[in-house]
Amino acid sequence: MAANKRTFIVFLGPPGSGKGTQAKILEKKLGLPQVATGDLFRYNLKNKTELGLLAKQYMDAGELVPDEVTIRMVEERLARDDCARGAILDGFPRNLHQAAVLDEMLAPYGGVTVTPFFVVDDDVVVARISGRRICRNCGAVYHVAFNPPKQDNICDVCGGELYQRDDDRPETVKNRLYVYYRQTGPLIGYYFARGLLERIDASKSVDEVTRMLEATLAKYGVA
Ligand code: AP5
Repeated sequence: MAANKRTFIVFLGPPGSGKGTQAKILEKKLGLPQVATGDLFRYNLKNKTELGLLAKQYMDAGELVPDEVTIRMVEERLARDDCARGAILDGFPRNLHQAAVLDEMLAPYGGVTVTPFFVVDDDVVVARISGRRICRNCGAVYHVAFNPPKQDNICDVCGGELYQRDDDRPETVKNRLYVYYRQTGPLIGYYFARGLLERIDASKSVDEVTRMLEATLAKYGVA
């Protein structure tokens, strides 16, 4: 066993399956930071960095941002102090190359701890994505029907304005799902073969999914 063991939870699942929603809940409960590559790209875009402007072209098309820049960004993020006990990886890895690189990165810390796989039908995913709204200021996630804010278009947490992501347009969502099946799908077998894959019924309510995740994580000593 690695002397410097850390906890790295890899959330796997299609766009809109609820990974971000659950990562934000568990980050508070477990004291492990959410490392979400999509959020990191959006942060860079908001700040008009070179990385953000590059990523935008790919995100708007529903394609993956090139591995080279994505991997460098994750390496830098995981090297920060708040990851000293581990992290919840939300949206990384997304193809077999990223998974192999992550294994190398995490080898000194005992590798990936567990991979909860969010299982949900495509029609549910499309309904969730089409109604998603996000706070421009703090990033809190809502749904117009399933998790509405108390006041229309205003964030309950910070009072910020809510917006719809550019890549949540129907034509882009279709390609995101296609890219998910083609490039991220093989990771199901990759983590299954390593004995790390745990299927979670993500069609249930937010609270039920959280309970299932907590029960699963407890089996791996994460609590
Ligand atoms: P990213 O931001 O990671 O998007 P995603 O994986 O497509 O996932 P989403 O954020 O759409 O969904 P989610 O599963 O987090 O669902 P959420 O909790 O919000 O990536 C965006 C883009 O960045 C990619 O297309 C790519 O271009 C690029 N990128 C990112 N990572 C990359 C990588 N590693 N390599 C290369 N490129 C990368 O929930 C969705 C909605 O449902 C919300 O409205 C929520 O309120 C609602 N909801 C959640 N749970 C429930 C529930 N149980 N019941 C009812 N409603 C629910």
